Amino acid sequence: MVLDRLTFIGLRNLSHVELRPSAGINVIVGANGSGKTSLLEGIHLLGMGRSFRTSQVKHAIAHDAATLTLHARLRGDPPIPLGIRRQREGSEMEMRMAGERVSRISQLVEALPLQLINPDAFRLLEGSPSHRREFLDWGVFHVKHDFLTIWKHVRRALKHRNALLRHGRMDERSLAVWEGEFAHWSEQLDTLRAAYFEAFLPIFDETLNELLPQASLSLRYTRGWDRQRDLNDILRMSRDSDRQMGFTQQGPQRADLKLRVGKRPAIEVLSRGQQKLIVSAMKLAQGRLLEQRTSRTCVYLIDDLPAELDAHHRQVFCRWLEQMRCQVFITSVDPETLQQSWQPDTSVSMFHVKHGKVDTLKEFTTE
Ligand SMILES: Nc1ncnc2c1ncn2[C@@H]1O[C@H](COP(=O)(O)OP(=O)(O)OP(=O)(O)O)[C@@H](O)[C@H]1O
Ligand SMILES: [Mg+2]
Repeated sequence: MVLDRLTFIGLRNLSHVELRPSAGINVIVGANGSGKTSLLEGIHLLGMGRSFRTSQVKHAIAHDAATLTLHARLRGDPPIPLGIRRQREGSEMEMRMAGERVSRISQLVEALPLQLINPDAFRLLEGSPSHRREFLDWGVFHVKHDFLTIWKHVRRALKHRNALLRHGRMDERSLAVWEGEFAHWSEQLDTLRAAYFEAFLPIFDETLNELLPQASLSLRYTRGWDRQRDLNDILRMSRDSDRQMGFTQQGPQRADLKLRVGKRPAIEVLSRGQQKLIVSAMKLAQGRLLEQRTSRTCVYLIDDLPAELDAHHRQVFCRWLEQMRCQVFITSVDPETLQQSWQPDTSVSMFHVKHGKVDTLKEFTTE
């Protein structure tokens, strides 16, 4: 997907920004505190309905503004306008797509597949399993249309079972009903996740092999309950211990991706830079798989790439981006650092952010 017009008003220090990005590589340069990350945050808000910097969108509203308004146009025939608006007062975020009011964030997510790679990216490995489930489910959501329905059924049944567990006296009959429901939809969710993971793994291995050739890494999907056992049986047998804990201990809500170097968890062994390369490979692989499966490309938001990547790895990473032919927004404090990273005939659009204003510098090929 390609965004060909952006208008951001009242976003952090960017009072009014109009941008005409190219369909390929867009480099955003500027000093510390100039507004580069805020620009990416605006695109992320449009595509994901949330920020990657704050859990409360209202914190992204410029201090002196009452409203945050973000507009973009998705290239297509016809083009699709996207927009969100958030007032400082009130709690609602208004979302619009193709001239219509949109009520679910998933509609924005579906229209604009985004991948973010930023200095926090290593958290995907280090953080809680929920980060990795979110990563996996992003992929499943974009390639399998029934994912969302199945996932909602799972969540609903889980909520009911957990509520019953916390109830003083266990209502065994109701429990059995919700356990049946939960097990049924959980199996379906696992089937989708496992199939996606199977397709993802070889693409990830191939991508990683160029970024980190000598790593003897293994990535595995675990579904959240014993591989040999039926979930319904597990739930029945674990009622007492689940009740003591106050929640359901096994099921797809505990699924994870396990990354190991030999027998040890990867985060115990790898350097921060290596972790960043692995996460980059995971995110690049997801974009490649999305394109293979749906012929849609995702938009990459890459914040502060040079941090922790040496010149060689930066170059390999950039080569992947070039090959994928997707739209990229990439920030850097220093324009020189990235200039060396592109192939000679790659066309790169450059934007300069200064004191909350954005200037188009030039469109150039690195030749
Ligand atoms: N709600 C807000 N209203 C106005 N300005 C804000 C708000 N939130 C943050 N800022 C300011 O916006 C500026 C831009 O921040 P941003 O993180 O986008 O900069 P950056 O160019 O990415 O910097 P760096 O190179 O250090 O990462 C900062 O000076 C910050 O203090
Ligand atoms: Mg920044």
